[in-house]
Amino acid sequence: MSEVLTYIDANLGRIRDELYDFLRIPSISAKAEHDADTRRSAEWLADRLRAAGLDVQIEETPGHPVVLGEWRGAGEDAPTVLIYGHYDVQPPEPLDEWASPPFEPTERDGRIYARGSADDKGQLFMHVKALEAHLASSGSLPVNVVVLAEGEEEVGSPNLVPFVDANLDRLACDVVLISDTGMFAEGLPSLGFSLRGLAYFEIRVSGARSDLHSGEYGGAVANPGNVLARILASLHDDEGRIAIAGFYDDVLDWDAETRAQIASLPHSDDEYREELGVDALVGEEGFSTLERLWIRPTCDVNGLLCGYTGEGAKTVLPNHAMAKVSFRLVPNQTDKAIKDLLEAHVSALAPAGVSIEISELHGGRPWRASVEGAHFEAAMDALEEAFGKRPVPMGGGGSIPIVVEFEERLGAPVLLVGFSLPGCNLHAPNEWLPIDNFEKGIGALALLYEKLGARPE
Ligand code: BES
Ligand code: MN
Ligand code: MN
Repeated sequence: MSEVLTYIDANLGRIRDELYDFLRIPSISAKAEHDADTRRSAEWLADRLRAAGLDVQIEETPGHPVVLGEWRGAGEDAPTVLIYGHYDVQPPEPLDEWASPPFEPTERDGRIYARGSADDKGQLFMHVKALEAHLASSGSLPVNVVVLAEGEEEVGSPNLVPFVDANLDRLACDVVLISDTGMFAEGLPSLGFSLRGLAYFEIRVSGARSDLHSGEYGGAVANPGNVLARILASLHDDEGRIAIAGFYDDVLDWDAETRAQIASLPHSDDEYREELGVDALVGEEGFSTLERLWIRPTCDVNGLLCGYTGEGAKTVLPNHAMAKVSFRLVPNQTDKAIKDLLEAHVSALAPAGVSIEISELHGGRPWRASVEGAHFEAAMDALEEAFGKRPVPMGGGGSIPIVVEFEERLGAPVLLVGFSLPGCNLHAPNEWLPIDNFEKGIGALALLYEKLGARPE
């Protein structure tokens, strides 16, 4: 094992240069104008996996391709690890808020700044290099490996479940390993025990045949902006709870032990508040900040569009209003049930004089891990060895909808071993990844493969 770590150490400069090449490719899955870049990113990744010694195929889908790498030299008795990640990134806008260009990786203060550094190209690449380190230093891996990298995670993975279903044999595995989350704090390695689900909607309110003079018509004709505002205001009550009838029916209460473990984490509301630049934290009464983030559902407006928003004033009665509204879900809520509840809630409120349309843009189920067993212990030990500190279990507020689907379809547990940090600006301007986590994390993953290989079921 020490040769593997020596190899990583000796190659860190080149590894970082390679990462920067990966990060320079603007693989923005949401934008058709970047389709060629997104494909180039898949090809680049396939080449690196091939150079490391895996058999690699670029698998076409109706959307962006899947990169599938395989190495099955450990033999039938050795466990198989499925490594999942995504090579697509979020759009970088607003561009003028970046201190250095999003697709020109730049080092500042021990951090790698670039879109995709943390989410998820940087973390996916760490696996590529951990695999390379084993294969280059000993010619083999302690486990059989399947690498599945998709290019559509940031647009809701529309083609991944069909791909998984069509390739169940090739994807069969004993454990799924994902590095697409974070550590609880600097120097404190972490293992994820949950992810929230997602139900994302667009609500459109339409009124008169066109915009109207707000003096000539205002007061006599329904205003879609006013109606939408009422709808949005009706989604929460004064205690920070979601005021949709039946919304909490499927929400499970978490056990006292997990809540105590969450409470024991080194978190300060004051520091959290200050880091975010707000004068108070708000949320559902009766739950701590971390509980609100990890084990309770939410409802947030993600976008709003209505009427005149240019310079100065325009007295107009708009004929359209639109809101993007998303719910983060917890076990056992489903996006399907939430859609029905939201539709019923809105239609009960809908006044005459407008029409309202609701469409679902993304959906995904929440996930909760079992935090015991040989795989989990292997990850705890590998992280502890690499970071010099016993890892903490942590929840995840974000969503990786494929996780539940993997567990159900492949019958294998998922390990979330993430290396970003709170404040890494995922999806925001100035995304970064700590260089220290990147470098130590490659060693941690190499150790983890070793431990998974040494501890079959
Ligand atoms: N890597 C994130 C998910 C994440 C981030 C989980 C931080 C836990 C902590 C992933 O790339 C992501 O952004 N997912 C989307 C969902 C998707 C359907 C667009 C999300 O959570 O908004
Ligand atoms: Mn991600
Ligand atoms: Mn993301």
